[in-house]
Amino acid sequence: MPSTDQMAPKIVEKSGVYISTYGCQMNVNDSERMYTLLEMSNYVPVTSADQASLIIINSCSVREKPVHKVHSEVGRYRKLKEKNPSLKIGVAGCVAQQEKKKLLKDVPLVDFVIGTDSIDELPQIIAKIKSENKKSVDAKFKHQQPYQIETLIRNPGVSTFINITKGCDNFCTFCVVPFTRGRERSRPYKQIVEDVNKLISRGVKEVYFLGQNVNSYTSDCGVNFAQLLKGIALETDIERIRYTTSHPKDFNQELIDISQEYREKICEYIHLPVQSGSTSVLERMNRVYTREGYLKKVKMILDTIPGVALSTDIIVGFPGETDEDFEQTLTLLEEVPFETLYAYKYSPRPFTKAARYTDQVPEEIKSERLTRLFKIHKAIAAQLAKKYLGQTLRVLVEQSNGERSFGRSQHNKVVHFKTTNNLVGQTVDVKIHTAFPATLRGELVGAHE
Ligand code: SAH
Ligand code: SF4
Ligand code: F3S
Repeated sequence: MPSTDQMAPKIVEKSGVYISTYGCQMNVNDSERMYTLLEMSNYVPVTSADQASLIIINSCSVREKPVHKVHSEVGRYRKLKEKNPSLKIGVAGCVAQQEKKKLLKDVPLVDFVIGTDSIDELPQIIAKIKSENKKSVDAKFKHQQPYQIETLIRNPGVSTFINITKGCDNFCTFCVVPFTRGRERSRPYKQIVEDVNKLISRGVKEVYFLGQNVNSYTSDCGVNFAQLLKGIALETDIERIRYTTSHPKDFNQELIDISQEYREKICEYIHLPVQSGSTSVLERMNRVYTREGYLKKVKMILDTIPGVALSTDIIVGFPGETDEDFEQTLTLLEEVPFETLYAYKYSPRPFTKAARYTDQVPEEIKSERLTRLFKIHKAIAAQLAKKYLGQTLRVLVEQSNGERSFGRSQHNKVVHFKTTNNLVGQTVDVKIHTAFPATLRGELVGAHE
């Protein structure tokens, strides 16, 4: 007869895990992957660090500010660690990949460092640091391995991220990403189709393809990015496809034509980072296009997809940027209808070529230029938003409380409207009566078939 001990149900107490996420959508998706993997190994996500026995900071190092934030966040956990010495603190993401074991030395509170290519080993890494009670660093790139992963999402919403490429081979002279995410790899085409189909069966209506440079996607069977979009539009029942980020050098007529042909599914929104309006700055940035080349691509897009919404990234104060160069960036804003602008002061990054350029621009000039740029763009954006007034937009509803709903139009505009029932996941027609640069308001005029 079994002893009472053997008969008693085994109660395994779950440990709390808290992940704080910085940086781009790639990191948001990686945090979701970490939560999913940890849930499978008996962790439960908690909403604040003081409830956790495991804290992971999923860091970003694209500019200096996010790096500082990681250091100060770890510092805030000192008291928690004093209260609970078994609390484990890890750093993941791009700072982890960049700093590797140096992080353990510089920030003694950190117990483990996990690089961007080691996420799938997270449960084993944690089991090891706990059983051996010693610190660990896993930050080697797995360049020899094919990029074959299944998208892991706990509760997919209406719209879900799917990584299609990882890494970057472009080596723009300002950018740390090729050093923190490694060489560029594309996932097999068939695996992406399977992912999309699985997510559709879980209620997903929109997939958001992610990569540092999505439009250089090339699958094992030779499918390019345009063909991937076409394949997903034709072979699956997904309602919408979004993607980010595209590099202007890989934006070609085939992609534009397919976007137009399948515009019912492929969103009419293109984020096309220009970085600068000056050809000589672009050359020193190693962007491999000129101002004229960029303008030509924009013309191709606008001529083929009327009504398309454009957005961009700009860096001000890149080393050697003169007043004239900066003026060229300002005039570009008048030539290209960018509805949204993400702009940053140049920040020297480790390992990058531009950090070693000797003609760095003083901080005050960078700040002045950024303020001027945003001011000019604000007026342009307000003007551009007016075109939506009176238009009826197809909105995929993301949130609804039975009274108010919001969703996104095919142009990636956030649209708010009143409702009398919960419409989450439905595509509806909304007639726009108020247009701000970032959001629109309108009236529900019907469901969309
Ligand atoms: N892969 C994307 C960009 C990824 S980083 C692309 O090529 O467009 C996101 C943005 O951060 C960049 O477009 C750039 O505008 C900005 N950025 C990158 N490195 C930077 C740096 N060192 N200083 C300031 N901004 C930077
Ligand atoms: Fe960085 Fe350039 Fe690669 Fe974008 S394309 S991730 S800016 S190196
Ligand atoms: Fe930051 Fe890394 Fe993304 S540097 S922007 S988290 S790729």
